[in-house]
Amino acid sequence: MAFPQSRLRRLRRSPNLRRMVRETRLVADDLIYPLFVCPGSGMVEAVESMPGVSRYSVDKVVDVCTAVAAEGIPAVLLFGLPESKDAVGSSSWSDDGIVQRALRAIKAAVPELVLIADVCFCEYTDHGHCGVIEDGEVNNDKTLDNLARQAVSMASAGADIVAPSDMMDGRVDRIRQALDAADLEMTPILSYAAKFASAFYGPFRDAADSAPAFGDRRSYQMDPANGREALREAALDALEGADLLMVKPALPYLDVLREVRRRFDRPLAAYQVSGEYSMLRAAAANGWLDYERVLMESLIAIRRAGADLIITYGARDAARLLHSGWTE
Ligand code: PBG
Repeated sequence: MAFPQSRLRRLRRSPNLRRMVRETRLVADDLIYPLFVCPGSGMVEAVESMPGVSRYSVDKVVDVCTAVAAEGIPAVLLFGLPESKDAVGSSSWSDDGIVQRALRAIKAAVPELVLIADVCFCEYTDHGHCGVIEDGEVNNDKTLDNLARQAVSMASAGADIVAPSDMMDGRVDRIRQALDAADLEMTPILSYAAKFASAFYGPFRDAADSAPAFGDRRSYQMDPANGREALREAALDALEGADLLMVKPALPYLDVLREVRRRFDRPLAAYQVSGEYSMLRAAAANGWLDYERVLMESLIAIRRAGADLIITYGARDAARLLHSGWTE
């Protein structure tokens, strides 16, 4: 039936009608809040390029996590700024490492909060690359051994989920084997399956002090032009035993999210990355966009494209808005 019998505006005429026919919903359960843990105590350092985001020392991150849990957000994703860096990033698998200490402290204070540890090396290496450098490039297979050590260390310290973000080939399989050998067979792996070499990570590299000292990450992260290759990445990670898959960044890659959703039955996460967040904030600071509305619109769009879970620096703002009855 066409016009005039069909009038799609009939179901748009009131807020309650719109609520009733809404196809996609966002709830606090869908959200994961990323956090940066820094050395010291009593430290709250604002990240200039990410308004509203700070780095917290372990004691402060515990306070934030207590608040995050009270806001109904089920999980946080932890990144560390270590005291010292070296060529291989060995502080990332130290039992006394910055994220390991945070994991133990948060677990003790807020046991119900799901703690996800990002597993990578760029924050821990003196050259800022995501693995072991050999002949000027990241050596895949040598990095795998270290990734496995880091994942086991994080899970032993209390990580409920480990999330490798390095983009080495074969890492999910290696991490799964290492976890199982360490009696951590119940620790799930959230794989950054399709992670693109994106300029949208710019503000994160300020926040985590993880910019590469030379070159870029294009020899391991994906070419933004490649959608089919993203599906091969997802297929391999699924085959290797990833429990949850992720696409990153989110908004510029909604087509990839949609296709991964269509082809794979695993829970799917999307990472609304630092640059996606900061551009909303920056435009809002100029009075050009309404931050709350564009945040909620981008989150529902990411859900509509197929994400079950969204990692976002706006998680606390979104949870607050949802709690106060946001229905737009
Ligand atoms: C670590 C990692 C990065 C991000 C998440 N994990 C940085 C990178 O790959 O350069 C980016 C997150 C963001 O921009 O919010 N490899």
